[in-house]
Amino acid sequence: MSDSHAKPPNDRRDFLLKLGAGAGVAALTAQTAASLRSLVPNVSYDSPTTVKLGPPTEFPDGIKFLPDERLFVFRQGQTFHAVSAVCTHLGCTVRAEALANAQTIQDDGAELRLTHRFLCPCHGSEYRGDGANVSGPAPKPLAWYRLSVSPDDGQLVVDLADEVDTDFRLTVG
Ligand code: FES
Repeated sequence: MSDSHAKPPNDRRDFLLKLGAGAGVAALTAQTAASLRSLVPNVSYDSPTTVKLGPPTEFPDGIKFLPDERLFVFRQGQTFHAVSAVCTHLGCTVRAEALANAQTIQDDGAELRLTHRFLCPCHGSEYRGDGANVSGPAPKPLAWYRLSVSPDDGQLVVDLADEVDTDFRLTVG
């Protein structure tokens, strides 16, 4: 007596081969997905765009360079403004050079006393004291950033993602 429901041996072998191949593909897909997921961090390492700079009283009248933020903070009495030290050509840090004679200009309708100019050591771009590019390969002026006072502790705060016009001034207290 024979078993008419038994599968021929070749069908069973094909089934097992397909099952094995399917399991291999599934395992490979899961491993690839896990590897790709591991490349994406669970936390953001982006630096915050707002930075506390210290109490306004720590800023002298005139100019103060902040190397970590690559920023010049200007103070005239109780008013402040901040100009980027990042050259608009290829990103070198510009240096400030004091003018022999300060001059006052009208900048976007606001009076501005220029005491410095900015020079880029990399390819010789020159900027006026308000950040306007005047010579060299720099394609545009230095950026101005918004300053504010922290409501928590009264420190000066810069937002390096918030560019402002050159008539911006922060008046403190
Ligand atoms: S990076 Fe400043 S002039 Fe080139």
